[in-house]
Amino acid sequence: MRNTPAGSVTNAPLGVFVLEYDAKNEDLEKTKNWKPIVKIAVSGAAGQISNHLLFKIASGEVFGKDQPVALRLLGSERSQVALEGVAMELEDCLFPLLREVDIGIDARKVFADADWALLIGAKPRGPGMERGDLLEMNGGIFAEQGKALNEVAKKTCKVMVVGNPCNTNALICMANAPSLDKRNFHALTRLDENRAKCQLALKAGVFYETVSNVTIWGNHSTTQVPDFVNAKIGGEICTDVIEDREWLENDFTPAIQTRGGLLIKKWGRSSAASTAVSIADAMKALVTPTKEGDWFSSAVITDGNPYGIEEGLVFSMPCRSKGDGSYEIVEGLKINDWLRERIKKSEEELSGEKGCVGHLMGITDGVCAADLEDTLLPGEM
Ligand code: LMR
Repeated sequence: MRNTPAGSVTNAPLGVFVLEYDAKNEDLEKTKNWKPIVKIAVSGAAGQISNHLLFKIASGEVFGKDQPVALRLLGSERSQVALEGVAMELEDCLFPLLREVDIGIDARKVFADADWALLIGAKPRGPGMERGDLLEMNGGIFAEQGKALNEVAKKTCKVMVVGNPCNTNALICMANAPSLDKRNFHALTRLDENRAKCQLALKAGVFYETVSNVTIWGNHSTTQVPDFVNAKIGGEICTDVIEDREWLENDFTPAIQTRGGLLIKKWGRSSAASTAVSIADAMKALVTPTKEGDWFSSAVITDGNPYGIEEGLVFSMPCRSKGDGSYEIVEGLKINDWLRERIKKSEEELSGEKGCVGHLMGITDGVCAADLEDTLLPGEM
């Protein structure tokens, strides 16, 4: 066991707070059947989303009560001291499953041997900032983090990108981490799925657990398509339960597309707690077998997708998992004209975003369409 008292600055390789504890050295009935430790690297670890998420992971909520975890927290020079505060709070929780907390500001150290990388840290869009500026600024961060993952993470590492614009950031990260399978990368659209489930449940007057099969198609932006056509409520087709088509098309759909922006207006900052919950949901969806007949949304690589969406994009689609960390895209959803037209718009948007960041992905012939409609969420005030 190596324990550096929190708050004291040392030259420890991963920062100022290090607790390592090997369950093998314990002679406790309860740890005997624990699984091998899982290492989870989190960027933006001193931010608001992480401040909810880390405690959920450390408590065993995501991976279960027999899965010890190591948390590797990545911050920046600016957030380093705050990161010490996060580590101190994690210490003070006495989580039995939390076996290591390492903090640092060098992705190449923090991502070493990671089984999971949750890439949350990104610069929020500032007032007056153009879409292209945000793509460029955050794209640079994700290119660097992709290179670091490529060099030091486990080749099986699952990467979940949350920092916006998350689909294109995930694509950039993937392009810079060629030694990891493209299918290991996800951009978070589970929050949008959860938002959609809640609004459908409220409208139908049912508990949200009865809403299933909700797909978010496309980009985590205002072009995203919350699919009420294939959704189910209490096992019935959603449109048979909610017959108010006008509401589904003209209230529900834009409400989900713009909910993140509305929340920013109300809070003065992005959603944090609900984002953290949805990250935990998205991770659980990959490590738990998906219920028979159901699926979940995640933005994944479009290569070989059954819906004719341009290859080489990170696009939200319906997925299922056997619970081993991998996923498959669910085939055969009904794509009517209404969905097709909107899915196409989101596809075009992502294709345009990709064209603007080709230089961060080693592509030289990309075209950045400067006149793309601005559909990014508004960013923090
Ligand atoms: C959300 O959907 O709440 C966030 O992605 C919004 C944002 O721009 O941070």
